[in-house]
Amino acid sequence: MPDSAPVRTALVTGASAGIGQAIAEVFAKEGFDLVLTARRGDRLEALAADLRQRFGRRVATIVADLADPAAPARIVGEIAAAGITVDALVNNAGYGVPGKFTDTPWEAQRDMLQVMVMAVAELTHRLLPGMIQRRYGRIINIGSVAGLVPQSAGHALYGSSKALVTGFSQSIALEWMPHNVYATAVCPGFTYTEFHDVNHMREQVSRLPKFMWMDADTVAREAFEAVMAGRIIHVPGRFYRMVVFLARYTPRWLVLAVVKRVSKTYRRT
Ligand SMILES: NC(=O)c1ccc[n+]([C@@H]2O[C@H](COP(=O)([O-])OP(=O)(O)OC[C@H]3O[C@@H](n4cnc5c(N)ncnc54)[C@H](OP(=O)(O)O)[C@@H]3O)[C@@H](O)[C@H]2O)c1
Repeated sequence: MPDSAPVRTALVTGASAGIGQAIAEVFAKEGFDLVLTARRGDRLEALAADLRQRFGRRVATIVADLADPAAPARIVGEIAAAGITVDALVNNAGYGVPGKFTDTPWEAQRDMLQVMVMAVAELTHRLLPGMIQRRYGRIINIGSVAGLVPQSAGHALYGSSKALVTGFSQSIALEWMPHNVYATAVCPGFTYTEFHDVNHMREQVSRLPKFMWMDADTVAREAFEAVMAGRIIHVPGRFYRMVVFLARYTPRWLVLAVVKRVSKTYRRT
């Protein structure tokens, strides 16, 4: 980055692990200061120290549980109080609630929607006006291939919430691109992170062949390049781009039949 370029700041949710941690590193490498948020403060502090030391960036951390409806406003308030303006927003925090829809208490389903949908929309809503005003904004919303193909049994609200995030990103991108505010839905397939340990599906998904797995660093790099290029939807990896393409152009009844059969490998139903 040339010396005269303004130093920009990226807010990354779910930065304590996996794709979020990898995206934070890419932004730091590309010359952004950072605000990192997640629930595990010790992880955030360790990452912040590492990024400060390796890239000389200013890195702040905010511990927050996005299942708390008050969290997005508090995060934005703390950032403003510190005199920081957010130029890039990465809505990444997320997890899955596997199994039959009624097997999990409503509160767990509600919390997931709060993290994966409401917090995404609210953080965007609160930070977008400043980006529009300053005529610079980059928003990455982490969706999933699960939001682009017909839903399987098990994980009922996961794919649906990712479909919403993708549609939402598209609208924001089309509304604000002329103001130099780009939004990209990045939709990965299976990626090596803590995701499947957190939802206790590691053993089951380990049966999937190696070629179906991406690494978080590749997803993060592709996410950064996609948003900087103004791409509206980006599916990392050639294999998953082909899956999405086939799912779009194959008759729905046939895709559903395939999903029903194949998803037994990676879904608890
Ligand atoms: N891994 C995959 O196969 C895959 C595929 C497609 C899409 N994705 C999406 O990628 C995103 C990142 O997931 P990942 O694979 O990197 O999983 P991960 O390694 O488990 O990381 C998830 C991150 O989200 C944060 N998070 C979870 N619940 C939170 C809450 N209530 N409040 C605040 N932060 C919370 C976690 O931090 P704390 O626990 O410290 O709060 C962690 O930093 C998610 O949106 C996921 O749906 C993953």
